[in-house]
Amino acid sequence: MSSIDYHLAELEIALSKSDPRRILPDIHESEKAILDIGCGVGQSFLALECTNRICVGLDVDEEAIKYGMENYGRQIQFVLADAQRLPFPAESFDFVFARVSLPYTNVPRVIREARRVLRRDGRVWLSLHTQDRALRYLREAAAASNVKQLIHGSYVLLNGYLLKYFGKTLPFVNGRYESWQDAVAMKALLRKCGFEAADHKIGLHTVVEGRLNRLLQAVASISPLFLAVLNVGLSDA
Ligand SMILES: C[S@@+](CC[C@H](N)C(=O)[O-])C[C@H]1O[C@@H](n2cnc3c(N)ncnc32)[C@H](O)[C@@H]1O
Repeated sequence: MSSIDYHLAELEIALSKSDPRRILPDIHESEKAILDIGCGVGQSFLALECTNRICVGLDVDEEAIKYGMENYGRQIQFVLADAQRLPFPAESFDFVFARVSLPYTNVPRVIREARRVLRRDGRVWLSLHTQDRALRYLREAAAASNVKQLIHGSYVLLNGYLLKYFGKTLPFVNGRYESWQDAVAMKALLRKCGFEAADHKIGLHTVVEGRLNRLLQAVASISPLFLAVLNVGLSDA
């Protein structure tokens, strides 16, 4: 399947409201400038019928960005770039979301970038890959005696643990990133970056959401220990 076929199949799913694989962020009335990280051909914005706002879709997939520009360039501003180095000035967006793209990135770096480009009180929405998914991928590799997939699957599984326990991810030998994301660790990472954080299930998916909190940001820059104490009472309700 080419990347365009994949993105168009995802568009079909996103447009079908009864499909259990469908998962999209909600968009608040006040959010006028929105960034989709790993947008593909723009399928999420298209399914959200995002109009009367600045909708920016960013992806490293040149073919997908070209297709998006040619077909949906009127509704969406497409940008070919890496999520780990967002080509936008600070405080450019009200809302940043990443639908199934975060697992393929250096997660802490992307979160720091999302915080940088978000405006005061900005919001981030991230769908995750779970540990179960990584284990299933490994089991499939073992059943098929697929050595390459076994090596890659082991890397993805270990990278998830690295993220969970040390807040870091490492690239694979090809320079690309992949991991699963523990929801509790993701919330801790968001809080470290000055977000109030919460997680929830949407159908088959796990999502973490963060809202920038200026007090947390100020405290995080002064004292990580105080931040840890403050966080105990925040967002888990
Ligand atoms: C599984 S697809 C999801 C596409 C779309 N968000 C959706 O929900 O259907 C992951 C997307 O993330 C993009 N991606 C992966 N790593 C990226 C990076 N470092 N920067 C920007 N986009 C990236 C891929 O090119 C791909 O389009």
